[in-house]
Amino acid sequence: MSHPLSIEPCDAPTSTEQRQALLHNPVFGKVFTDHMVTAQHSADKGWHQARLKARHDFQFSPGTTVLHYGLEIFEGLKAYRQANGSVALFRPEANAKRFANSARRLAMPPLPEAMFVESVKALAQLDKDWIPQQDFASLYLRPFMIATDATLGLKPAEECLFSVIACPVGAYFKGGAAAVSLWVSDHFTRAAPGGTGDAKCGGNYAAAMVAQLEASRQGCDQVVFLDAVERLWVEELGGMNVFFVFDDGSIQTPPLTGTILPGITRDSILQLAMDKGLTVREERYSIDQWQQDAQSGRLVEAFACGTAAVVTPIGSVRGNRHEFTIGNGQGGEVTAMLKGALLDIQYGRADDPHGWMLAL
Ligand code: PLP
Ligand code: COI
Repeated sequence: MSHPLSIEPCDAPTSTEQRQALLHNPVFGKVFTDHMVTAQHSADKGWHQARLKARHDFQFSPGTTVLHYGLEIFEGLKAYRQANGSVALFRPEANAKRFANSARRLAMPPLPEAMFVESVKALAQLDKDWIPQQDFASLYLRPFMIATDATLGLKPAEECLFSVIACPVGAYFKGGAAAVSLWVSDHFTRAAPGGTGDAKCGGNYAAAMVAQLEASRQGCDQVVFLDAVERLWVEELGGMNVFFVFDDGSIQTPPLTGTILPGITRDSILQLAMDKGLTVREERYSIDQWQQDAQSGRLVEAFACGTAAVVTPIGSVRGNRHEFTIGNGQGGEVTAMLKGALLDIQYGRADDPHGWMLAL
């Protein structure tokens, strides 16, 4: 790290009893650990003042850029308790790289990748007692960066704040591992060519919120977005990539054409599927073909994947022009096999042939 991380543990951490109570079935993103990382960027000093200390609130001028123009990027990654009791992070270097790419897309100063990795590692280490003991639990780390210049002038960020907070988490969906239902958004789109679809910036999620609301109102768990040009090609969900499984055992996922997030889980699933000898394709797939294949039985499974959602079977799809069930509506063998293979590596129950786990 160009400026070493100064570690100042908080004076009055949460008591063991209070923590145990908070760790019992935490709702995703609602419980925060005792500490956080912060670092500042300015035009003259670059990145400086990197601290790991007690979690605290921020104070800003009402003119702060992020509040007006949404100059914000973030990441999501997890620390897992390993079968041998130690703690390890899953592919933090990949998140560091994507974070720097997101910064460049929003004309924000990229954080050195080593500084990102050191920050998440140090926070996970200091707050490792916050990892719940239950199956499928982990510590979700949320690195983020905001533009803090106090100006209403429209200009690229110079002053920025980088921070990492952490949340103990269990399953992302209320139903745990059960299959989810999707609502096809044929009115709202998430990202257009040339836009910010492949950056992990808050604005993408703000723009997608109304479509997620529509999905909920229609009684579905998640929204699935189509491409913005032809409104035909399946892109991704609000916070997950999507995979299709065919009756010949092959799997397919939409290609990285700039309008979807290059998911680290997506990349890992592609690798694991190849390791298992499956045929994998990164090719576009239309919503009409999806319906036709689901109804003919050519498509046997589909699943969503992401850091928060892990691997979640898709049971049914509905929209203004579509309605179909996938397989038996409960998920299937290939989905379960790939999910198991991923979780076994993440929890240290299997070999890690690609060197994905970083021990603390
Ligand atoms: N797509 C979107 C829009 C997301 O928010 C996420 C979650 O981070 C993903 C895909 C999956 O990415 P990853 O596997 O890196 O978590
Ligand atoms: C993640 O999986 O890390 C996400 O960012 C998804 C969601 C919570 C926004």
